[in-house]
Amino acid sequence: MTEAILLVGGKGTRLRPLTVNTPKPMVPAAGVPFLTHQLARARAAGVEHIVLATSYLAEVFEPYFGDGSALGLHLEYVTEEEPLGTGGAIRNVASRLRSAPGEPVLIFNGDILTGLDIPALVDTHRRTGADVSLHLTRVADPRAFGLVPTDAAGRVTAFLEKPQTPEEIVTDQINAGAYVFTRSVIDTIPADRPVSVERETFPGLLAEGAHLQGMVDSTYWLDLGTPQAFVRGSADLVLGRAPSPAVPGRRGERLVIEGARVAPDAKLTGGTVVGAGAFVGAGARVEGSTVLDGAVIEAGAVVRDSLIGAGARVGARTVLDGAVIGDGAVVGADNELREGIRIWCDAHIPDGAVRFSAPAA
Ligand code: GTP
Repeated sequence: MTEAILLVGGKGTRLRPLTVNTPKPMVPAAGVPFLTHQLARARAAGVEHIVLATSYLAEVFEPYFGDGSALGLHLEYVTEEEPLGTGGAIRNVASRLRSAPGEPVLIFNGDILTGLDIPALVDTHRRTGADVSLHLTRVADPRAFGLVPTDAAGRVTAFLEKPQTPEEIVTDQINAGAYVFTRSVIDTIPADRPVSVERETFPGLLAEGAHLQGMVDSTYWLDLGTPQAFVRGSADLVLGRAPSPAVPGRRGERLVIEGARVAPDAKLTGGTVVGAGAFVGAGARVEGSTVLDGAVIEAGAVVRDSLIGAGARVGARTVLDGAVIGDGAVVGADNELREGIRIWCDAHIPDGAVRFSAPAA
């Protein structure tokens, strides 16, 4: 079967502070580093050789995944000295590929959770004789994305920047972050300088008359680039809405990883995951949230659609809704933190310091 490149070197700025200590693909989703789900899905599709293109915090990948044999894979790691961007990263690992010039190579962004039919994308590539084939997904609101219109045969006709006006929304198809490149096309990307595959390589190939094929697959798809999306993706994995062979336990309302402690009357719902060594106190309610290893949720706290970093602490009766608490941060008792708030790693919020409503007493 086809070999693959996984792009895992981005700085993950939109996901800060979760990505201050941990590269985005290593942030745990449903109890394991997110990358595990992608590796396991690729393996299930028959991929055996995967090259990880690393840059930001590159040193953490290999100690965790090793040679990949635990997942039935053969993994290799290539680290950029300076970040080379998505296209530059692909070019930079070319020497590790084993495919012949005419053979297909899979490429995945390292932050996409999807049920994509991987063999179907490779089949589309072979059947159409394309130079590059792209997984496209349809979104309800395409304004935040670059658009990828196709003709009746599925051939890409343009790569359009984020639309500014309603007239510019000519399609609801967007680049879903999974590609098949004919090996020889990878060799045409310039080496040793940053290149964006989305902004430079794809439009350049199109302008040269290359054949870029789109495959619309409307299965589960989520870009985990933002905290809100990351929490949603982790919960969907736990609930079984998002497919992965790597969730460590049964699908359901909650996933409590071995070594976590949860008070008998605490309520965990909506795909909540509680990591190893974490603690959820009496009467706490945790809904659709990710509680990383060693974090503490004290008695009576209410946590919804939030991510609690490793070793962080959420005080008694504190309410979190759509919040991100960085690793090691402490939120005191009786706080109320809402939509979009990000508490930095190791920050301290005193008891009763932040409210969106008047306290009862
Ligand atoms: P933001 O900074 O939040 O935009 O996230 P990001 O750095 O991950 O960028 P983006 O989401 O656009 O990246 C898409 C994919 O390409 C992700 O899987 C990144 O890890 C990866 N990526 C982005 N830039 C580089 C790079 O310079 N080198 C490598 N090896 N991978 C990259």
